[in-house]
Amino acid sequence: MPRIAYVNGRYVRHADAAVHILDRGFVFADAVYEVCQIQQGFIVDLGRHLDRLDRSLAEIRIRQPMPRAALTGILRQVLRRNLVTNGMVYLQVTRGVAKRDHVFPAPEVRPTLVVTAKSLDPAVNAAKYASGIKAATVADNRWGRVDIKTVGLLPNVLARQQAKEAGAQEAIFVDAEGHVTEGGATNLWIVNRAGTLVTRPADHGILKGITRTTLMDVAEKLGLAVEERRFSVAEMLDAREVFVTGATTICLPVVSIDGRTIANGHPGMTAQKIREAFFAVAEKTAI
Ligand code: PDD
Repeated sequence: MPRIAYVNGRYVRHADAAVHILDRGFVFADAVYEVCQIQQGFIVDLGRHLDRLDRSLAEIRIRQPMPRAALTGILRQVLRRNLVTNGMVYLQVTRGVAKRDHVFPAPEVRPTLVVTAKSLDPAVNAAKYASGIKAATVADNRWGRVDIKTVGLLPNVLARQQAKEAGAQEAIFVDAEGHVTEGGATNLWIVNRAGTLVTRPADHGILKGITRTTLMDVAEKLGLAVEERRFSVAEMLDAREVFVTGATTICLPVVSIDGRTIANGHPGMTAQKIREAFFAVAEKTAI
């Protein structure tokens, strides 16, 4: 069965799916995106993802390609056509195709909409939960609006590559003051010595992760204290637990950073409890 993608009104073979070379997503990274996890036949936290998409589009003044119900229908179609029950769905909206000119096209052009889906083997995540991952710190040299989920991810690409070359699976961005911002494609949390969950406030310096938001609901349900404040690399290295959150991995323990072992070097109980409670709390939309 061929993999299928949606591109501007058509369902096409993934291998043949393409956008124009003057698409502003290709030329300027003038585009935003979302990634939702698919778990046992349900789209996880779809409402929150589409709310954030609306916000990202509004922040960079791209009009919505279609109403939410129609977009949801396309996500479902792509998932069904690719027989995805565990995995992810990716959607990207660009400002559209226009002659290369930095300013917005006038008159406005039709936004490009691309949707793809992919099956992921839950056993891969399970193995990562059991072992934890290694991370490496990198300087956060990104622009000042990383709260907008744009496809302009070159610093994230370079950070993850740097981490990989250091033998790690995730990069941890550190700002000019020595405070942790977030991961290369995840939000970062610590459980401090007092047992409190600490994560950076969702200002313009991080992406306000949907998993992060739902995790706050999970923490409340479990009676875990959460503090949103900045924290240093030293505090992170001294933490009882460090973990990262994101749509494709939910809550993944970090057991070593820059070659320094975190706590006893094994995944902690808090991350595990959160993961176990997560899907009962998250919104689930049937495919
Ligand atoms: N990444 N921070 C960054 C920089 C991210 O790219 C992501 C998500 C997150 C976590 O957000 P959420 O919980 O909404 O997935 C935080 C996606 C999964 C990606 O680029 O593949």
